[in-house]
Amino acid sequence: MNESVLLIDDEKSFRVIVEAALREEGYDVRTAPNAALGIELWRKAPTDLVILDRNLPDADGVDVLAQLVHDARERSTDTVVLMVTAYAEVDNAVDALRRGADDYITKPVQLPDLVIKLQKALERRRLERRVRALKSREGDVSSQLEKSKSPAMLKVLDMARRVAASPDTAVLLQGETGSGKDMLARYIHAHTAGRSEAALIELNCAAIADSLAETELFGHERGAFTDAKASKPGLLELATEGTLFLDEIGDLGLGIQAKLLRVLETMRFRRVGGTRDLSVDIRFISATNRDLAHDVEEGRFRLDLFHRIDVFHLVVPPLRERPEDILPLAETFMRTTALRLGRKLDGIDDAAVDALSKYPYPGNVRELRNVIERAMILETGTKLTANSLVLGTARTAPSTSENFFSVRLPPGAPPPTLRQLEALYLEHILAQTDGNKTQAARILDVSFPTIAKKVAEGGIKSSS
Ligand SMILES: Nc1ncnc2c1ncn2[C@@H]1O[C@H](COP(=O)(O)OP(=O)(O)O)[C@@H](O)[C@H]1O
Ligand SMILES: [Mg+2]
Repeated sequence: MNESVLLIDDEKSFRVIVEAALREEGYDVRTAPNAALGIELWRKAPTDLVILDRNLPDADGVDVLAQLVHDARERSTDTVVLMVTAYAEVDNAVDALRRGADDYITKPVQLPDLVIKLQKALERRRLERRVRALKSREGDVSSQLEKSKSPAMLKVLDMARRVAASPDTAVLLQGETGSGKDMLARYIHAHTAGRSEAALIELNCAAIADSLAETELFGHERGAFTDAKASKPGLLELATEGTLFLDEIGDLGLGIQAKLLRVLETMRFRRVGGTRDLSVDIRFISATNRDLAHDVEEGRFRLDLFHRIDVFHLVVPPLRERPEDILPLAETFMRTTALRLGRKLDGIDDAAVDALSKYPYPGNVRELRNVIERAMILETGTKLTANSLVLGTARTAPSTSENFFSVRLPPGAPPPTLRQLEALYLEHILAQTDGNKTQAARILDVSFPTIAKKVAEGGIKSSS
């Protein structure tokens, strides 16, 4: 949609010329020859920007300005006002700025000058809106997280606020996917005095190739590589004074890990193709769903970098370990989904409550949100019922559950054969039943002789 401009000026030739010029630039333009009509037009359809003549036949432009500012506030919107003063009435211009005009122009107006001022003012407004939207999102994050009922999560939030008070400490968030690591990173940023006014900049290390991650992080100078037509600041520069959130840091390659280590050690870096060191003032928050200590052991992650990013370690508990949060979250998601679908349900019935409470959510909060959204779409009754719940069949989540069966292969090893895999799995189950073959047969849904035979044939370790 085009941005809209309202021009209030009694001079007809001025209106005609400016209207034509701004149309040419792609703006949606309306005009009014006096204050009364101008205000009426604006009330009917508020425009993004108003060009307002200081000397109008029926009012002083400054009073019209006050009226517009007031009207805009009442509608919780905003409008940008450029005041036009007849000649270099500097005092008037300053006065207009003080009363809420965004800029002023003097007549005779140079069109290019007008267009540039208008573009700048609109640009500023877009930025301000974005900042406001981000701030309100951060407010949302805080209030959502603080609704948590589980002792486990409340403890995490308490720790998060404590580390927020220490604005330079690197934080590592560890938790299964969908458990709320992103939200917690935003929470810490929002609670860090002196940083929350600046940006939280995010890099998803899993979604980006290492060579790209490097120019993203460090930026580049003009001519650093073939496509570098202009120099570009990296995320490190953009995050200065704020927070850099390195999501899925375990997926970063070893080469870039070394470069990142230098930044964390010295708080200095160089743009790609640059010759000069730049310094940064950043809080680093990293997140991972992997066991980084294990990645260190296996040589996939640098030990020194691990220590640098893991100064303050926070574990976001999986949803199944904080069942108190399931129903409140489900209700939150019902409300937000209702807003989007334009259709409200009148609570959750008992069977659905039961099913929701028992399910282990391998995909954590994200999965719960999707389950609710799907159910709201499928549900035909007035309440959310168990019939419309589509819960996955997974019993336990893969990454941290002790119950999980996994096979670790040495690097370069051929894939196991089906028979080998079967033997390993049988061993795993027998370990769980303390070698009791009758129980193992029941779990595996085969007969006792089948188990006994496989054990005898396969050289399977079993304690009985
Ligand atoms: N406490 C919470 N309240 C409301 N929504 C939440 C909460 N925790 C997580 N979510 C939502 O669940 C989804 C996954 O959270 P996210 O922070 O992206 O997880 P992660 O980064 O660990 O994968 C997001 O849509 C997020 O908004
Ligand atoms: Mg995430």
